[in-house]
Amino acid sequence: MAHNDHANIGLESADIQKISDILQKYLATEIALNLKIRNYHWNVEGAMFRDLHLFFEGLYNDGAQYADEVAERIRMLGVHTHASMAEYIEMTIISEEKNISLPAMEMLANLLKDTETIIREMRKDIDIVWKMGDQGTEDFLTALIQKHEKDGWMIRSLCKNK
Ligand SMILES: [Fe+2]
Repeated sequence: MAHNDHANIGLESADIQKISDILQKYLATEIALNLKIRNYHWNVEGAMFRDLHLFFEGLYNDGAQYADEVAERIRMLGVHTHASMAEYIEMTIISEEKNISLPAMEMLANLLKDTETIIREMRKDIDIVWKMGDQGTEDFLTALIQKHEKDGWMIRSLCKNK
């Protein structure tokens, strides 16, 4: 994409490219996570079925919002947003889920692992965008990490099999 399409907002074009690549990575990751959560919503079984079916529905509804916000943040930098499954599967930092008959506790363990992976990666990237002087994206990712941290707390609490 031509650099002159980038927003003229006081950021170097090369930095906008790097920042938008970071955001595209999270868009891909949010989409991959969202499909994984839908799998679990549809396929969960057992004594906790009702609770987890509804819990997963809340998570994927929130997650769909996160993905939309990341996509629109990319557009605010003047960059077009990736929108193909092939690119998402290449860029996501979490693996997709192909197993459709996992035990409920394994579903929760996988979601906790993915959520914590996202949080750790985001923490590094917040520092990177801060160093480039992009306060808008820094603030955006700081808000997004808090949402994942809250989701992580809820998933972690459900993982405690007392
Ligand atoms: Fe449903």
